[in-house]
Amino acid sequence: MPSIVMEQLSKRYGSLMALDSLSLTLEGGRCVGFLGPNGAGKTTTLKLLTDLIKPTSGKASINGYDVHTEKRRALERCGALVETPEIYPSLTPREALSLLAEMRGIRGGEREERVKAVIEEVKMEDWMDSRIGKFSKGMKQRINIASTLLAEPEIIILDEPTSGLDPRGMAEVREMIRSLKRKNILIFMSSHLLSEVQDICDDVAIVDHGKLLVHGPLSEVTSKFLPEGAKRTIDVQCSASVDDALKSKVASIEGVVSVDGGSGRMSIAFSGGSAAQAKLLEEMVKLNIGVYSFREATTSPLEETYMRLIKETL
Ligand SMILES: Nc1ncnc2c1ncn2[C@@H]1O[C@H](COP(=O)(O)OP(=O)(O)OP(=O)(O)O)[C@@H](O)[C@H]1O
Ligand SMILES: [Mg+2]
Repeated sequence: MPSIVMEQLSKRYGSLMALDSLSLTLEGGRCVGFLGPNGAGKTTTLKLLTDLIKPTSGKASINGYDVHTEKRRALERCGALVETPEIYPSLTPREALSLLAEMRGIRGGEREERVKAVIEEVKMEDWMDSRIGKFSKGMKQRINIASTLLAEPEIIILDEPTSGLDPRGMAEVREMIRSLKRKNILIFMSSHLLSEVQDICDDVAIVDHGKLLVHGPLSEVTSKFLPEGAKRTIDVQCSASVDDALKSKVASIEGVVSVDGGSGRMSIAFSGGSAAQAKLLEEMVKLNIGVYSFREATTSPLEETYMRLIKETL
């Protein structure tokens, strides 16, 4: 089973702890989203994992091999896109990937076949012999992803793989990641896009200020930070001022888990389904508080969780 294990991993730059005793174990064919604000330590973590930089203390291993002392074995079946230099523009995908395959030690006989296979995997076979310099960002990123597949990886490490791509490019890269998941590959990818993580990842790990805040299956992580039993949040706007008396009236309506708010706004954590939600609206109207907006919050549970966690550590 593919595995990534980080033990008390730290990286210091001068007085800055870019990564502070991160311990995290990832196992099995799953996709783990790595989230955190700018400067949180995500890229630092991924660079440590691929031995691009050395830890100040602690260690990391891949499939049981220390990434520093047993680098070759550790990274043998690991494809990574972290700080990838641009591919030389006058090369074609076939040429660029053949060079990379050679560097990875893939033998001459196998090389050609492997290169073809990975180009097909990222659906670039029609462009195999065109110069990369002419490619769009999305096409270049597909070739980059193809390069991570050369070694028939069990583990793939990606630093913001869809960053800078247009919506269609993003969708294509996401679809590729989904198809890798089906092959029992462990994918560890950083992202700033909560909807993307929600969409393609099984697990999530959130870091801030170099510290791990939470790690676990998406649904577990998000349910931990929503009020007990709440399924959704409903945002209400009304002309009456929202005081404690009104909040407790609303809190006593069936299905309401908790009520937050003030100055004409309420945020209601709600446990019921749509029938109960219709009833809630009726009850709210009966309160005569001039409800003029009643809608499910557009923030996703992951967004809610992220915001709460990050705010706590400001
Ligand atoms: N070579 C370096 N020298 C000094 N400080 C560094 C160096 N590399 C990173 N840092 C600092 O370490 C911290 C973590 O950086 P890192 O790149 O890991 O963040 P990140 O989570 O990837 O952020 P982003 O979301 O912006 O990519 C930041 O404060 C950054 O300025
Ligand atoms: Mg980064």
